[in-house]
Amino acid sequence: MRSAKFITPSMLAICLPLFGCDREISFANDIQPILNDSCIDCHGGAGEGAETSGVDLTDYEGVMRGTNFGPVVIAGDSASSVLYQVIAHETAPEIHMPPHTEDALAEGRGFSLRDPQIQTIAEWIDQGAENN
Ligand code: HEC
Repeated sequence: MRSAKFITPSMLAICLPLFGCDREISFANDIQPILNDSCIDCHGGAGEGAETSGVDLTDYEGVMRGTNFGPVVIAGDSASSVLYQVIAHETAPEIHMPPHTEDALAEGRGFSLRDPQIQTIAEWIDQGAENN
């Protein structure tokens, strides 16, 4: 259970009906493994995503630094966070992440994160995007 001071009314409104705020998401245990599995081939070191966008998802500092133009995580506000928008299909199809436009899917090149993974990332951001 999270301590009461972190539970804000907006979090309750977002979390309770959809997922329940019953556990604290850990960056190290819950988030980095998703990024390692699905993102860092392109968003680590010399990957094409890192080269094109500047987004390096190999560690917490990289995640919080964001693109060459600015942050992709707004702590406490997943809906405004580009990191969430690109995985939750809320952007132009060209920047859905991992890349999976209809064309890419048809060619067997693309895939989407699973809904529970998308929700876990949203919850982590809404819980304050801590390095925990
Ligand atoms: C196949 C390679 C590839 C994979 C896998 C990939 N990305 Fe990307 N990503 C890219 C490329 C290329 C860009 C630059 C797109 C552009 O700017 O047109 C990008 C851009 C981004 C951006 C910046 C969007 C913006 O505002 O321009 C974010 C955030 C992002 N990726 C997150 C992720 C996440 C999270 C994952 C894993 C769930 C992921 N990416 C997986 C290639 C990839």
